[in-house]
Amino acid sequence: MSATVSPLSENLGAIVNGVDLREPLSDADRRTLYQAFLDHHVIAIRGQDGLTPDQVLDLSRIFGPELEPHTFTEFHHPDTPLIIVLSNRVEMGGKPKGLADAGTFWHSDVSYKEIPAKATLLYSVEIPDQGGDTLFCNLTAAYDALPDDMKTRLDGLTAVHDYTHSKRDILVEGKVAAPDPGTHPVVRMHAETGRKAIYINPAYTTRINELNEAESDALMAEIFDHCLQDQFRMTYQWQPGDVLAWDNAAIMHSATTKNLDPAKHRTLWRTIISGDGPVR
Ligand code: SIN
Repeated sequence: MSATVSPLSENLGAIVNGVDLREPLSDADRRTLYQAFLDHHVIAIRGQDGLTPDQVLDLSRIFGPELEPHTFTEFHHPDTPLIIVLSNRVEMGGKPKGLADAGTFWHSDVSYKEIPAKATLLYSVEIPDQGGDTLFCNLTAAYDALPDDMKTRLDGLTAVHDYTHSKRDILVEGKVAAPDPGTHPVVRMHAETGRKAIYINPAYTTRINELNEAESDALMAEIFDHCLQDQFRMTYQWQPGDVLAWDNAAIMHSATTKNLDPAKHRTLWRTIISGDGPVR
């Protein structure tokens, strides 16, 4: 049995079949997974119940050698700080089991740092029968579909990405210190595929540096309206035992956990695969 790849939706994503992640993966399967990640931006591998934290870390390293712990230490997995537990469960004594909402807003992971996350991997431990989908937007296809005069207008622009822009609960509660904002090109070139993608997002991007505030706000609103058209979007409906990995240089995503019925429980493990340098 070896890995096969088929599209997950018309707009982005792929399903990888023919792998059992509880067994060691062949080099060929590791290469297939990585190529599918580059080609399709989001990959899903279903039916992988019972993975251990070590197996999830090993799998994450297919997408890059370095993993980084979340700054918010309270919900690190008990076995390793390289996995953060996302969960809306509340344990005995009222202690939350995990971070209840990792971002019900459109964002690209860690874009607020000078070196943003290359990739993100999620592994689903428990999934409710309804709700808790993750939404994706293909920023590579959105860039390709821009009219030429807009591509010319965006060329050379840079933007500030600030963690505090998203008004996250954990900031409001003073549970994490905000990192210094990062500055990146508005259009980035993928380090491996050479494809261009829009690289601003509603959660973290506060300002296009070369424009005055009103122009910056208007241009960002226009770009976000363009990106969030149905033709660039995909909704992922989770099943227990799913593994999902995505390329933060090519897409943005949004959780929907803020809207989840508290009586319905969702628990996932997440790893962040570090970027290897500033955004180009
Ligand atoms: C994330 O934004 O990293 C998590 C997405 C989710 O919980 O659906």
